Amino acid sequence: MTDDAKKPTTTDAGIPVASDEHSLTIGADGPIVLHDHYLIEQMAQFNRERIPERQPHAKGAGAFGHFEVTQDVSKYTKAALFQPGTKTDTLIRFSTVAGEQGSPDTWRDPRGFSLKFYTSEGNYDMVGNNTPIFFLRDPMKFQHFIRSQKRRADSGLRDHDMQWDFWTLSQESAHQVTWLMGDRGIPKTWRHMDGFSSHTYMWVNADGEKFWVKYHFKTDQGNDFLTQEEADRLAGTDGDYHRRDLFNSIRDGNYPSWTLKMQIMPFEDARTYRFNPFDLTKVWPHADYPLIEVGRLTLDRNPTDFHTEIEQAAFEPSNLVRGIGLSPDKMLLGRGFSYSDAHRARLGANYKQIPVNRPKSPVHSYSKDGAMRVENVSDPVYAPNSYGGPAADPSLTDDAGLWYADGDMVRQAYTLREDDDDWGQAGTLVRDVLDDAARDRLVSNVVGHLKDGVSEKVLKRAFEYWRNVDETLGERIEKGVGEG
Ligand code: HEM
Repeated sequence: MTDDAKKPTTTDAGIPVASDEHSLTIGADGPIVLHDHYLIEQMAQFNRERIPERQPHAKGAGAFGHFEVTQDVSKYTKAALFQPGTKTDTLIRFSTVAGEQGSPDTWRDPRGFSLKFYTSEGNYDMVGNNTPIFFLRDPMKFQHFIRSQKRRADSGLRDHDMQWDFWTLSQESAHQVTWLMGDRGIPKTWRHMDGFSSHTYMWVNADGEKFWVKYHFKTDQGNDFLTQEEADRLAGTDGDYHRRDLFNSIRDGNYPSWTLKMQIMPFEDARTYRFNPFDLTKVWPHADYPLIEVGRLTLDRNPTDFHTEIEQAAFEPSNLVRGIGLSPDKMLLGRGFSYSDAHRARLGANYKQIPVNRPKSPVHSYSKDGAMRVENVSDPVYAPNSYGGPAADPSLTDDAGLWYADGDMVRQAYTLREDDDDWGQAGTLVRDVLDDAARDRLVSNVVGHLKDGVSEKVLKRAFEYWRNVDETLGERIEKGVGEG
């Protein structure tokens, strides 16, 4: 018998209950009485167990661990968590994008790679994906994009016609769709994939010098993938395949790790670089900005309560600490607003008091009251005040995330530069990065996807789209679909 089994059951108010099995009735054959408050508590709490799932990225799981700095990058950032030798507690959550809670882990989709660093100077969240790029460059299109990947209004079904309709009318998606349809679109496990910030962020050092940076968490387990056939089979036999793999690996002491490497661009380079370095549909060639090692992320602790530690975890790109700031990437700026809004809707106004979201550094904010507030507030409740309340210390802030901009108000995602186009990097990926076998699988994956319910008019555009990525690839795809 475990210790737990010896404990008497109580109500939520701590009152011992008389039975785990029987309701209170008038005689063994008679009706239930309303004053069986324990039965009512059981039914009422059960009816309220579910909370809204995340709009995108609903299906996922996570674990705890730490990030340890192994190299000296203090000349690039003064962020406390990146100073030499620093070890920071972390939480990670992996996810798929379009599937709901309970959807199979092995559906083709980008994978989320969300990190929360509990730093000595507040929580820092790096909410990335397993791809270094994204489908879009303007946040105006994000909501439409996600709807096109989820379910139809009429049948409630997912629909490849809707997906390709959106993609082929949004040619900036070509680079990410090429990644998605290739091997990286279904990682073998979450342990066997890289994580990227995808966006450019700003780092600032102690002298106020600024840099543009991209994060690359390179898996120490090696990249590996599932074929479409393997993934389809697993979707039917073990929908929680990735969740199970992560939990069991950590349980068995097989701790996964990632090496963080950065691409770092001097601040002034961004003005003249040959394409807009803030465009989220593009990678920075490593030949121009090589990877610089920073440290290692290791996961070594499973959650003990999935709901309170993973489901209620709130990651937000606006959680930035000293020495790290946003960049002019319009997608990132849109995300800077969207996540905390989603958390307030999904978890409530005081979601940062849920233990998994609470910083491990002191909080002295002026937020007050609201539903489910659990931490006491003390006077004074306003600033400025003359009663000893917290006061902002300008010496603790920095100008990370500040840059110069002017111009007319326009609706346009970036001024085009010499090498700004939507097809070039996708074509390079197909021709120069993939080998013959990977190219064959790419063709086969796209053909299989296009054969599944895509209308004639969208198909025509899809062939054109792939020919623009790579002429030969486009021809092979058109031929493959035509072969019926
Ligand atoms: C989740 C919005 C682009 C990665 C979410 C959620 C929202 C959202 C509302 C749900 C948050 C929650 O309920 O907890 C947006 C908007 C975007 C955008 C408006 C563009 C304008 C991106 C991009 C990436 C990304 C480019 C990756 C580079 C993620 C991840 C999650 C997520 C990993 C899951 C967070 C978790 O594990 O809890 N996004 N997103 N999103 N998003 Fe985005």
